[in-house]
Amino acid sequence: LDVSDPIAFSAMQSARDAFANTRWHATPLTAPNAPDGSAYQGKAAKGYAGPVTEMRNPARHNDIVGSVTDASTDDVTAAIAAAAASNWGQTPVGMRTASLRAAADLYETHSAELFALLAREAGKSWSDAIAEVREAVDFLRYYADQAERLPLASALGPIAAISPWNFPLAIFTGQIAGALVAGNPVLAKPAPQTPLIAFRAIQLLHEAGIPADALQLLPGGGEVGTALTANPAIAGVVFTGSLPTARRIDHTMATHLAPTAPLVAETGGLNAMIVDSTALPEQAVRDIITSAFQSAGQRCSALRILYLQEDAAERTIEMLKGAMDELALGDPWTLAHDVGPVIDEAARTKIQAHIDSYARAGKLIHQLKAPTGGTYVAPTVLEVNSITDLTEEIFGPVLHIALFKADQIDAVIADINASGYGLTFGMHTRISSRVAAVSRAIRAGNIYINRNQIGAAVGSQPFGGEGLSGTGPKAGGPHYVPRFTTAPGPTDSA
Ligand code: NAD
Ligand code: ALA
Repeated sequence: LDVSDPIAFSAMQSARDAFANTRWHATPLTAPNAPDGSAYQGKAAKGYAGPVTEMRNPARHNDIVGSVTDASTDDVTAAIAAAAASNWGQTPVGMRTASLRAAADLYETHSAELFALLAREAGKSWSDAIAEVREAVDFLRYYADQAERLPLASALGPIAAISPWNFPLAIFTGQIAGALVAGNPVLAKPAPQTPLIAFRAIQLLHEAGIPADALQLLPGGGEVGTALTANPAIAGVVFTGSLPTARRIDHTMATHLAPTAPLVAETGGLNAMIVDSTALPEQAVRDIITSAFQSAGQRCSALRILYLQEDAAERTIEMLKGAMDELALGDPWTLAHDVGPVIDEAARTKIQAHIDSYARAGKLIHQLKAPTGGTYVAPTVLEVNSITDLTEEIFGPVLHIALFKADQIDAVIADINASGYGLTFGMHTRISSRVAAVSRAIRAGNIYINRNQIGAAVGSQPFGGEGLSGTGPKAGGPHYVPRFTTAPGPTDSA
């Protein structure tokens, strides 16, 4: 976090002062505990019938962030019927874009509260939380601009928007904004790990003028997701999450929905970086650390496998170990830590089992020590022969390293492409002709040269994968909004 910046610093201070102990309640009833004291007037005012879950801070389990009442399958059916009857598609595009822009303003006005929610419910660092609110605001304004710039065809009908916990505000908002601005009512299902952030976002979107029947929140897990994607009144699905879930949704849709209902899916990756012997080691190490360990490795874009040219390997690995040893792990609520928790116990157990199996095989290169009090996984480096050793995405602070010889670079690229994933790819080299050749040969949605390989920028650097990593169109790009109409433009990553 840049604490010298007065805006960021004062927003963070307000978040810490005003929302350190707030408890949010994502209940469809009036919300007496909503921090602004306002009554919640959404469709959910009738009340949901699913189970109630207490949400705890993954960084500090004794911090109760609030509670959520899930939707039941009957609630899902009722919500879809209300959405299908809404006249949102008939509202003039100018009204829709005005609502999105009003929501962007409200997100900014309430940014301190959103920062606090991102830190306490999702375990985000302050800098990640600030970037995420910024990205959510950018999605709202960019898709509003796009809807005015493009000749849009007719809306599709009710869209199910299903999102992950790792960008619980930005991706959640981006999906909703893209589908809504094209004239579709939206049923938004947040990840079960982050419903409170979603709840506040929906309140702000309603406050901005989006009618309650045109945008409804359906909290819950896979059961709610299945009920949504199996309902024949759903005209399309926008999904961001893991590949196995995308496959399940595809199957459900194929069984129950009209064959014309699109699935926009953004999934995971086995993201690789190649560092050759012409790279500047200090710069490469800095970017490897950021790409693999920022956000505790819980970014779809994060670096999973580093290919190091043998001649440069010893020096680079020694420097990497030294740089890792400087990382401070712990609760991001204090400013003293660089790497926070993973999202929950299930994630921790899965990542740890992967690390343990490599450690048993003598493949542990380096590991830090995890703190207690939350769901922490120590940043770890493991040795592999190649990307073919990895069978699935490990979604946490785990970096795999493989070595290659100078004449093997084509084989490395072939192996990376053969994984079938194609989300991000990074390269550190000072050979210009190699940059051009590798960028042409590699199949990945986002390619990053001589920098870290996480992050995207709405409007100027759209984000999305190829192959097993996504259907396109890229989020934050010009083809996104038209995908939610009857005459979509081309996808940009297929
Ligand atoms: P996940 O697949 O477990 O869950 C995603 C969403 O799908 C959640 O809301 C979940 O409740 C819902 N879901 C689960 N089962 C369902 C079903 N049967 N039908 C309908 N919905 C169902 O993913 P996650 O753990 O929340 O998020 C992490 C994953 O997301 C990683 O794989 C990451 O790479 C990916 N991701 C991709 C991008 C991208 O832009 N490509 C961005 C962020 C995250
Ligand atoms: N835009 C997200 C990232 O940068 C997905 O990691």
